[in-house]
Amino acid sequence: MEKWLFLVLLCPLLPAPVRPHEPVPLPAVVFGVCLGIGTGGFIWNFFSSGESCKELEEVDIADLQEDLENRLFGQHLAKGITLQALSGFLRNENPSKALAISFHGPTGTGKNYISQIIARHIYPEGMKSRYVHQFVSTLHFPHVQHLDTYKDQLQKWIRGNVTACKRSVFIFDEVDKMHPGLINAIKPFLDYYDYLERVDYRKAIFIFLSNTAGEVISKLALDFWKAGKVREDIKLSDVEHQLSLSAFNKNNSGFWHSSLIDRHLIDLYVPFLPLEQQHVKMCIKREIMDRGIIVDVELISKVANDMTYYPKDEKVFSVKGCKVVSTKLNLYLLPTIMDRPRNLNIFSGFFNFVSWVFWGICSSISNFFHFVFWAIFSLFLNIFYIISWVFWGICSSISNFFNFVFWAISSLFLNIFYIISWVFWGICSSISNFFNLVF
Ligand SMILES: Nc1ncnc2c1ncn2[C@@H]1O[C@H](COP(=O)(O)OP(=O)(O)OP(=O)(O)O)[C@@H](O)[C@H]1O
Ligand SMILES: [Mg+2]
Repeated sequence: MEKWLFLVLLCPLLPAPVRPHEPVPLPAVVFGVCLGIGTGGFIWNFFSSGESCKELEEVDIADLQEDLENRLFGQHLAKGITLQALSGFLRNENPSKALAISFHGPTGTGKNYISQIIARHIYPEGMKSRYVHQFVSTLHFPHVQHLDTYKDQLQKWIRGNVTACKRSVFIFDEVDKMHPGLINAIKPFLDYYDYLERVDYRKAIFIFLSNTAGEVISKLALDFWKAGKVREDIKLSDVEHQLSLSAFNKNNSGFWHSSLIDRHLIDLYVPFLPLEQQHVKMCIKREIMDRGIIVDVELISKVANDMTYYPKDEKVFSVKGCKVVSTKLNLYLLPTIMDRPRNLNIFSGFFNFVSWVFWGICSSISNFFHFVFWAIFSLFLNIFYIISWVFWGICSSISNFFNFVFWAISSLFLNIFYIISWVFWGICSSISNFFNLVF
């Protein structure tokens, strides 16, 4: 669904503006706004994958050519034919049928690789694009007994996707392992119909990959090499007829007696030549550059020499093409990584030194502040201490003063009363003695 249409449909679901009766706390507002933006972004990303069906847009053929020149090695035929076929087909507003190309050749020669490059140039998301569909026979159609179900599902899948986007790309891998009956199920979509059940399939692209005729192609390339001819002189006409014959007649081919070939529905048979050591070296160099490592000629030679070549005596072609280049390179890069501790030591030593310097600076700053605060605090403490002593001195002096004064006054009073009591006692006892004497 178009993202704009989706957003318009969402509009009725939007809540009516709400005016709060009470002031809303600021954190709640911020949280609400963030939640809203986050949810909106998620919905937007979910429904807009950023790509659209390329029905009318042109593919940059010059860009595709440049990419093929830089990335696909030793395949002058495949490069030339594919470019020509695609540029003609993609520019044609009204093609008579869907494009059907069949890539043939020995293992590791770039059949999947070129399909990925093509897909990426039509849809930037490449093999991840929702308009590019890859089927692998052994994965998607493994059981012969389910053939009818597979046929039905495959036809529905193709119909559904071409209805959604006319410029859909379908890649069938391991066609040599695919049941001929299943291949025949694709036939109506490749035929010369303007519309089939109201669906127009003429802008779709079908790519078939297989090892069928791999030996034929390898033999032809070897014959050229033995005759001292330049590989680039091999023409499509040298191999095309043999290719279609081999695809049609070999009973281990998925195309075996298939009506696709019978009715000439495959537009092009593209041969992939076996790769020589020079091409393997180019693959290694490309892999090294892609990994962002400095190109080392010695490393390239080591990896290339580690590959197996055939025929046994001449060792001309790589048995696995460029297929295991990445894995082999890993094996040679591993010791280099293991050697690194020396370099890492310098680095770790440097960072260690930096960390110590940093620690020294930080701890000095900390100590400085510690000292300053300590001095200030202890000064304050001492001041208060002195103040408290002075205060204590004053208070205790006052207290002693009062203590003394009260003691003096109180003892004076006591003595007065004592004297009075004695005087009173003297008077009273004199009176008493007088009366005692009289009585
Ligand atoms: N001609 C080539 N130029 C550059 N790289 C290549 C070439 N052929 C193969 N490679 C490298 O080898 C890897 C494997 O190749 P790819 O999967 O295309 O082989 P294939 O022809 O499909 O083999 P198979 O028949 O076994 O499926 C690619 O991802 C790519 O990195
Ligand atoms: Mg492959």
